Amino acid sequence: MSYIAFHDVTKEYRTGGESVLAANKVTFEIEKGELCVVLGPSGAGKTTILNLLGGMDKATSGSIMVGEKEITKLSGRELTEYRRLDVGFVFQFYNLMPNLTALENVELARQVCPNALDPVEVLKQVGLGERMNNFPAQLSGGEQQRVSIARALCKNPALLLCDEPTGALDSKTGLQVLSLLKEVSEKYQSTVAIITHNGAIAPLAKRVIRVKNGSIESVQINDHPVDVDDIAW
Ligand SMILES: Nc1ncnc2c1ncn2[C@@H]1O[C@H](COP(=O)(O)OP(=O)(O)O)[C@@H](O)[C@H]1O
Ligand SMILES: [Mg+2]
Repeated sequence: MSYIAFHDVTKEYRTGGESVLAANKVTFEIEKGELCVVLGPSGAGKTTILNLLGGMDKATSGSIMVGEKEITKLSGRELTEYRRLDVGFVFQFYNLMPNLTALENVELARQVCPNALDPVEVLKQVGLGERMNNFPAQLSGGEQQRVSIARALCKNPALLLCDEPTGALDSKTGLQVLSLLKEVSEKYQSTVAIITHNGAIAPLAKRVIRVKNGSIESVQINDHPVDVDDIAW
C-alpha cells in the first residue's frame, strides 16, 4: 500500500449554472519519502489536486488516503488538525507576513504545531542564517521563497506541498530553490510534491504525474532522478 493514494477522485466546481470538472476520476499513488512532480499546463487541475491532498478542499467523490488517514472521510475539525500538523505548504508568491521578520515568519509555524523544529536552525539550513532579522521586502524573491520553505519545514511535516514554487523566480534562482527542496526531501525524509507547468523540472523527481484536462495523462517513474545541475531550464 502506497503512502498516498488517490482513487477515482472527482472535484466539480459549480459557479452559477456552470459546472467545471477540475479533477475527473483521478487515480495515482506516491510512495513515502518520494519527491514527486505534478506537471501540466495552466488550468489542467494541478492546484485542485494539491488542495485536495492538503485538505484545503473537499473532493466531490472518490477517496484519498494519506498513511492511515482517509482524508476524504475526515470531519472539518480533523481536517484542520491534518493541515496544521501533517502538511507544510509553499506557494508561488511566498505568502509571508510583510510586517514580520524572516525569523518571526518561521516562528509562526511553532504556534500552530507543537512538534515544530527550532526556527533558527531551519533558517540556517535553508541558507538564511545571516538574514533572519530582515523583513520580506528586504529580501530577494529567492530568499523570500527560502523563508517560506523554512516556515513549512519548521512544522516538520510528513508532507510538503509546493504549488509552482519557482513560478515567480528567474531560472537560476528557481534552480537553487529546487535544489533546496531536493536536499530537504532527503534530509527530512518528507514526501514532497511540487506542482509545475515547466517540463524541464520533471527529470529531478522520482515520480512525474502528468495532468491534462482534469485527468491523469501518465505517471512516470525515474529510476535515476537527475541533479539540479544537470537540468536545462
Ligand atoms: N474555486 C474554483 N471555482 C470554480 N472553478 C475553479 C475553482 N478552482 C479551479 N477552478 C477551475 O478548475 C480548473 C482547474 O484549475 P486548477 O486546478 O487551478 O488548474 P492548474 O493549477 O493546473 O492551473 C480550471 O478550469 C479552473 O478554472
Ligand atoms: Mg495552479
